[in-house]
Formats: sequence, C-alpha cells, structure tokens
Amino acid sequence: EKQGFKHYMLKEIYEQPGVVRTCLEYYLRDDWRPDADFSPIKLNLSPALLADLEQVQILACGTSWHAGLVGKYLLEDLAQIPTSVQYASEFRYAPPPVTRQTLTIGVTQSGETADTLAALELELHRRANLRSELQPRLLGITNRPESSLGHLVSEIIDTHAGIEIGVAATKTFVAQLLAFYLLALDLAWQRQTLDHSRLGAIIDQLRQLPAQVEQILESQERYIETLSHDFADTQDFIFLGRGINFPIALEGALKLKEISYIHAEGYPAGEMKHGPIALLDAKVPVVTIAMPGIVFEKVLSNAQEARARDARLIGVTPMEEQEARDTFDALLPVPEVDELLSPILTVIPLQLLAYHIAARRGLDVDQPRNLAKSVTVE
Ligand code: F6R
Repeated sequence: EKQGFKHYMLKEIYEQPGVVRTCLEYYLRDDWRPDADFSPIKLNLSPALLADLEQVQILACGTSWHAGLVGKYLLEDLAQIPTSVQYASEFRYAPPPVTRQTLTIGVTQSGETADTLAALELELHRRANLRSELQPRLLGITNRPESSLGHLVSEIIDTHAGIEIGVAATKTFVAQLLAFYLLALDLAWQRQTLDHSRLGAIIDQLRQLPAQVEQILESQERYIETLSHDFADTQDFIFLGRGINFPIALEGALKLKEISYIHAEGYPAGEMKHGPIALLDAKVPVVTIAMPGIVFEKVLSNAQEARARDARLIGVTPMEEQEARDTFDALLPVPEVDELLSPILTVIPLQLLAYHIAARRGLDVDQPRNLAKSVTVE
C-alpha cells in the first residue's frame, strides 16, 4: 500500500504534483482567454453564495488554519475582500458580532473536526435567527465531501486530494491552498478587481506548479535527508517568513514539532526583534523563507540579524539569488516564481525536512504520539 515508500507521509508528499494537477484539471477552464466573457474558474458554486460579499471569515484548526491564513492573503490581494481567519475552537466561545454580508468558510481535511463543525453550526444558527438579508452563507473546503462537513454545509469545494493516511497533513494542505487560489481568482473575476492579463498570467503560472513541485522533490530529497543528520541533538528550531509565506513558516514549525517532537516556532520575520531573538544562539537553527517580492530584502536582513547571534541559517530561496545564497549556510532551493504563488512550493522542502528529521530519529512518522488523524472531540 505504501508503494515502496517507508511511510505514508513520504508517499503523500510525493503525491503532491498529481494532487495539484488533478485539482487544476477539475476547476480551470481550458477554453478561457483573457478576452473571454466568462470566469476562468468553474467551481460550480451557486451565484448567490458569492454575490455582493462584504467580508469573508475562515474557520479551521491546525494545518487547515494555516491554509486559511494564506487564503486571507489571496482573498484580500486578488479579490479585495476583507477576510478574517479564526481558530474554530476560539470562535465557538467568542464569535464576532454579526454585521455584514459574510461568507463563512470552514476548512477541514477530515471533514470531522469537532471544533470546526461546531463553529460552523453556531454561525449557521445565529445568522438564521437574524434579519433575512444576513442569511448564512457557508462554504466548506475539504477532500472529504462525504464527511460530516458535507452534510452540514450545502456548498463545497472538493479539493480532490483523496484520503490522507499520515497524521501530519501534507497533500491535503497543498490542495486546500489551491482551492483558495481558485476561489480568490473566481471572485476577482466576478468583482473585476484584477486586470485580465494579470489574471491570465497567474493562471499560466498555476499550470506550471505540478512540474515545479516535482522538480523540488527530485532535486532535494537526498540533500535534505543528509542535512537532517545535523539535527540529531537539536532541541529548538525557528521558522521565519513574511507576507504570504508567514503561514508557511507556521506550517513548517507545526510539521516539525508534530512528528519529530522538537520544539519549533514560526514567526513573522519582522517580529523577531520584539522578543524571540533572545532565544537564538549557535544551537538554534533558523529556517527562513525568502522569496523575491515585496518583502525579500526585509526577510534577508531579518535572517542576517539571526546570523549575528551565531544561529545556523537555512534558506528556502531561489538558486538564482546571489544575495540569498550569500546569506544562508544551507539552501533548500525552490524555482523562482511570483511571490503570490510561492507557498505551494516553499512548503515542500519544509515537509521533507520535518519528515527526514523525524525518520532519522526513528520515530513513528505516520502515527505520532498523542495525535489522531481526526479530532472528533472538543
Ligand atoms: C497537522 C494536522 C492537524 C490538523 C487539524 C485540523 O498536520 O494534521 O493540525 O490540521 O487537526 O484537522 P482537519 O483539517 O481534519 O480539520
């Protein structure tokens, strides 16, 4: 069943090029051109769900919450819709006041997470009890449309990632990210917030992602496995990113702590100097995501601040960037792409890093201690 892979997690990491390809095949229209009078995306959602939205709120837990953070960035940047992202477990007991036309999106790979389901139910009932123009609009993003989530909400984006067996989410996360790209682009088309040539350029780049993910897997796995030997005694890791890659820093840290039991923190790189920098010394590796774009120089200078504290610097960055190459002690190269598209690539080396560190320590990667694939209790 593992098809020659040592663990399901590694198998699922390798399924990602196919997962991205399949999802794009379902939802991108081949016949779309920048001068077309229809959307390039076919999500099959009812028009009333997305019409005249004033805000979006995303409810999720864990890795799915990280996907939501990337989603916020996309919905705000591409479709110009103010978006909030909340932990479902927090939302349940402190929901914000109901005010405007809001789309509520529940993100869950299992479709069974108790907190996420309860938060969505709360939203459904409290809006239904209010004025009719604020009727609830609920959308689920999942790879399990047959789950409890599927019964609770009437509209679903099925990511078509299939069932995931490894407890640490990998392919389902990448598929959730893709769902947010598609939703944000569809909304951008409807709301006319993006000029069509930029829309076309983003779609062209989406189509290149499967091959780029494949390239990262092929070129880096062996190197990352070797690199993982250096962290046999490491007790703490820091992950830094900014902008759309800040959630990927959080995700890199979560993957590592779940399966290797190493303490890891993700921070927005600019926050380092406000406290966490006190943790740094030669024993704490710092993994920095530095993609060319609006925050590139800033992130590099944040990484250099860490170097001044003797931290070992590992960079997720394109090979072509001399300044980045000079900044980091070890490189996990990714293809140079539009910053907006980069999270789907930058997360891949971080998954491999977490996997190899845990596997090297001889741990049960697919069934980490204290964790379950579906968290069906509060
Ligand atoms: C991380 C992980 C958990 C889940 C979280 C939500 O690798 O697996 O953090 O992401 O329990 O699960 P779902 O997406 O099923 O709601």
